[in-house]
Amino acid sequence: MDKIISIGIIGPGKIAPRFVGGAAFVDNVSIDAVYGRSFEKAKRFAKQHNISTVYETLEAFLADPSIDLVYIATPVVVHKEQIMACLHAKKHVLCEKPMLVTESEVNDAYALAKAQDVLLMEAQKAPFLQSTQWVKEAIKKGTIGDVSYIEASYGFRSSFSKLHWAYDANGGGSLWVLGVYPIAFFLSVLSDDDIVSYSRKIQLLKQGSDAFGHLQVQTESGIVGSLSSSLIADQINSARVYGSEGMIIVDHYWKSTSLRLISYSGDIETLHFDDPSDFTPYIQHAVERIEKGLTQSPIYNQYHSLKQVQLITST
Ligand SMILES: NC(=O)c1ccc[n+]([C@@H]2O[C@H](COP(=O)([O-])OP(=O)(O)OC[C@H]3O[C@@H](n4cnc5c(N)ncnc54)[C@H](OP(=O)(O)O)[C@@H]3O)[C@@H](O)[C@H]2O)c1
Repeated sequence: MDKIISIGIIGPGKIAPRFVGGAAFVDNVSIDAVYGRSFEKAKRFAKQHNISTVYETLEAFLADPSIDLVYIATPVVVHKEQIMACLHAKKHVLCEKPMLVTESEVNDAYALAKAQDVLLMEAQKAPFLQSTQWVKEAIKKGTIGDVSYIEASYGFRSSFSKLHWAYDANGGGSLWVLGVYPIAFFLSVLSDDDIVSYSRKIQLLKQGSDAFGHLQVQTESGIVGSLSSSLIADQINSARVYGSEGMIIVDHYWKSTSLRLISYSGDIETLHFDDPSDFTPYIQHAVERIEKGLTQSPIYNQYHSLKQVQLITST
């Protein structure tokens, strides 16, 4: 039997319980430790999720030799510092999206992961879902003819206070908080078809972050993408892929277990997939890459993190 990979969590907040739920379906893992800036909250979280060890300081957490993989579930403002600390401690790292927000941060972190011979991966869900992988294959095989256009959006009227980290000028705003979902979908369904041009339109808030963002992109083969995000209006939160023979619609494409394949001759087929949760595929993927000794994911890696930065900070 393969070695059990021991996971420690940093940041027992809103998203961490869903990670725990998703990890329950993954082979060869055990969640054994947690650290949060509030010791009381971390203890409560550990009790709720049956986690044996709670640390009061990051130093003590990282000094625990039994932790193999750290899941960082904090806001982006602290990612750089926490990722680098984990990598220096020779821990594999799965970090919540958006992982890092400048090209130099991305390059430094991946270089350190390589030097330390540990995995670094952004915890993006869409790239690893069966529905996204199916769309990628369908585009490659010409299932809907030649693909010319892909739209993907994610937006809602947020109830966050304007002081919430989601509006922070450093890594907040709709494109960083939500726009990384349509970007990740778009990048994931292309096969060796690099984005060669892009531009951005945003509506800025007083805080310096964007309330609404839109990216217009084009790939080497000519596919045009329209990717948008919003913290001020509900959007149609789906991905639409248009070809010469038909279209594919994936509702809630970052957590979907189904999609619609619509041919222009009138046939509509709904396909279903059996991912047990939206968190499970990427956790399973990370564990398998660690077992193989890789320092990056072949599916979503430094190239994709850099593309996110380039698109979101473009003018
Ligand atoms: N994959 C997904 O589906 C998904 C969905 C939502 C969010 N996310 C991402 O997950 C991350 C966490 O989101 P969340 O909604 O769980 O956030 P959250 O509940 O506001 O915070 C998560 C954890 O980080 C701690 N924290 C907050 N600000 C911090 C700071 N400045 N320094 C150190 N620790 C801090 C919180 O401590 P306190 O409890 O003491 O505040 C909590 O333990 C974000 O990067 C977000 O973009 C992913």
